[in-house]
Amino acid sequence: MCGIVGYVGKSRAVPMLLQGLHKLEYRGYDSAGVALPEGGGIEVIKTSGRIDDLEKKVKHYGELSACCGIGHTRWATHGAPSDLNAHPHLSQGGKVAIVHNGIIENYMELREMLRGAGYRITTQTDTEVVAHLFEMNYHGDAVRAMVETVKYLRGSYALAVLSADEPGQIVCTRRDNPLIVGVGEGENMIASDIPAILAVTKNYIVIADGEVVRVDAGGVTVYNSLGETVEKEINTVTWDVSAAEKGGYEHFMIKEIMEQPKAVRDTVQPRIKDGMPALDDCGLSDALFENVRNIHITCCGSALHAGLVGKVVREKLARIPVIAQVASEFRYCDPIIGPDDLCIVISQSGTTADTLAALREAKARGARTVAVVNVVASDAAREADGVLYTWAGPEIAVATTKAYSAQLAAMYLIAVRAGLARGTLSEEAARRCCAEIAALPELIERTLACREDMQYLASLYSNRQSIFFLGRGIDYAAAQEASLKLKEISYIHSEAYAGGELKHGTISLIEDGTLVVALCCDPALLEKSVSNIKSVKARGAKVIMVTSVASFQPDPEICDHLIRIPACAAELSASLSNIPMQLFAYYVGVHRGCDVDKPRNLAKSVTVE
Ligand code: AGP
Repeated sequence: MCGIVGYVGKSRAVPMLLQGLHKLEYRGYDSAGVALPEGGGIEVIKTSGRIDDLEKKVKHYGELSACCGIGHTRWATHGAPSDLNAHPHLSQGGKVAIVHNGIIENYMELREMLRGAGYRITTQTDTEVVAHLFEMNYHGDAVRAMVETVKYLRGSYALAVLSADEPGQIVCTRRDNPLIVGVGEGENMIASDIPAILAVTKNYIVIADGEVVRVDAGGVTVYNSLGETVEKEINTVTWDVSAAEKGGYEHFMIKEIMEQPKAVRDTVQPRIKDGMPALDDCGLSDALFENVRNIHITCCGSALHAGLVGKVVREKLARIPVIAQVASEFRYCDPIIGPDDLCIVISQSGTTADTLAALREAKARGARTVAVVNVVASDAAREADGVLYTWAGPEIAVATTKAYSAQLAAMYLIAVRAGLARGTLSEEAARRCCAEIAALPELIERTLACREDMQYLASLYSNRQSIFFLGRGIDYAAAQEASLKLKEISYIHSEAYAGGELKHGTISLIEDGTLVVALCCDPALLEKSVSNIKSVKARGAKVIMVTSVASFQPDPEICDHLIRIPACAAELSASLSNIPMQLFAYYVGVHRGCDVDKPRNLAKSVTVE
């Protein structure tokens, strides 16, 4: 989704803004721009396309000496990705420039009101109205004008404003969209995410909904919605700056795939104490598990797939009914959830609009809420009653890999603790499970050795129109993630099916040469899966089989390619079967010349409904 950056300090703003925008590219965008106070007015330079295109355009403007400015990457929602619709947007009088992330839901009404007041609307965006409103409300104090402007707005936003009359400052605010302020020495930045501020500082403030911030070279002042100043905690980025760089890899995605042993180790290690999962301080006490009626898991995309694995494992180990549901549906289906229930939301970014809405819905209905989140102090982390952090480090590639693996690890820890609390797992069994979870990083490391095999298979099958993934039980949950990964990276149509479901319709799509990838990691379901594979093979399919069952010797006639992954407990197998699937998706994408780190139409942080 859109990215916001702002700089004010001792250096020229343009290079600082451009480097910041590059760091936000991973969020997904289709146009970009900057605004600077120049010669008593505001210079806006913007273009559709990539930041490289913006850089070329900026060069035509010669020396831009301003040490203050705002920048933006736009992911089009209202109006095509064009030069005109790109941000920043200027107010009619040309004295105010605005960048916006989110959606102003009542922009049509506001347009009418502004037209009535003599304003001309020139773009198709929902953002332009904010520039005019701000101008209308500006009487020499940008903070005051911001407080007044947001009173008109319905929807979600992070906003940053530059005013020609106060050229050395940026004023910003937010509602339901991320915004941080980097606090440096004699220079400060604002941004949608941490990587964009690291050139200046590792210290940052998280802005809360409704707060308005004035940022100049000398400091940062935060106001509440009444205009009173607020003290804010300064956080420090704990990870190394190099964690957000490619470090010699061709793409962030492959770097992040290779980082998975560390991501899982960092997530699991602090949470296993005396051989048992320690989750009390995350709001997951034994008393909670003893009394809980249902667990709801609600989230989006890959996070939901981690939740589906969590459902299978938790129902098996703790015998608690788990309802895993797409977050965008949750709040509109009058969910049956109340004070006896636990709602777990899973999110890498902690800013996904649908997930946050589901979290708020569950809270409003009295449920206890816990967020499994990767980004420290993100919205989900701050709003849930408890938080279990995954420690995957910054994930830059749009397609999640290491954060998903860390989420799986968190799911296992919760399942074991819940089983122990409810007496469905003996202490001995819980200890054994914990030891197996603690061993996962090493097993993932060994699984990564299939990298070359997957590269080879990708070269064989990257020309397919359609690919199917099959699995039963936990393998079905894992197959859904494998399918999503492939389609988002390579743009090949793919679907995941429960092995037994094929015969109810989908098998009609199998023809000579169709690729079917079968995940077979649960020994209890192996024979059934083999029957399903035979039925696709009989119709001409090519089959890649992935198995962790060491004793399994598949009939060479049903399996064109066999990928063996290390043996492990069936409940944990999604953490290993996932690795060849990620590598397959990655290499198919690379083979097809796709922009694997920034797939078309996608955004890393989906902050609109
Ligand atoms: C994963 O590869 C996706 N790009 C996407 O499905 C993602 O998992 C989803 O948007 C949820 O994001 P979150 O974890 O940041 O909430």
